[in-house]
Amino acid sequence: MITITVNGRAQQVDADPDTPLLWVLRDHLKLTGTKFGCGAAQCGACTVHIDGAAARSCATPVSAVEGAKITTIEGLSGNGDHPLQRAWVALDVPQCGYCQSGQIMQAAALLADKPTPSDQEIREAMAGNICRCGTYPRIHAAIRQAASQAADTTRKGG
Ligand code: FES
Ligand code: FES
Repeated sequence: MITITVNGRAQQVDADPDTPLLWVLRDHLKLTGTKFGCGAAQCGACTVHIDGAAARSCATPVSAVEGAKITTIEGLSGNGDHPLQRAWVALDVPQCGYCQSGQIMQAAALLADKPTPSDQEIREAMAGNICRCGTYPRIHAAIRQAASQAADTTRKGG
């Protein structure tokens, strides 16, 4: 048994230590918001946060995250109301949707680290997240919108 903490809950899973975190999340814990794309750390569909940093769960053995705090798209916010999720809805970002939880998790790690990133910083942070539908312009715009709303809230003291 391996104990991992996902979205604030410690969970015991009966998995081989080499099992990729992605499969533990999807198959053992039924958290299917995190997607399988390439399985080789090349597309970003499987992005989650490990201790706040964006990480590719397809390339992370579950044994490596014992004791770490893992956050998936299901745990990013209480009611789907993270500023990025609101911006994603407002700008109607997804097309097929498959890559989008990974995109949001990647962007959320960026904004947690740099609340008001430059366009270049957004491009660099998001460069490893592939979208076959080509929603990149809307993803970029939604990150900008979420960042500016967060900055407004901070300025207004909220
Ligand atoms: S499925 Fe993990 S990076 Fe593609
Ligand atoms: S919305 Fe279809 S792959 Fe990104």
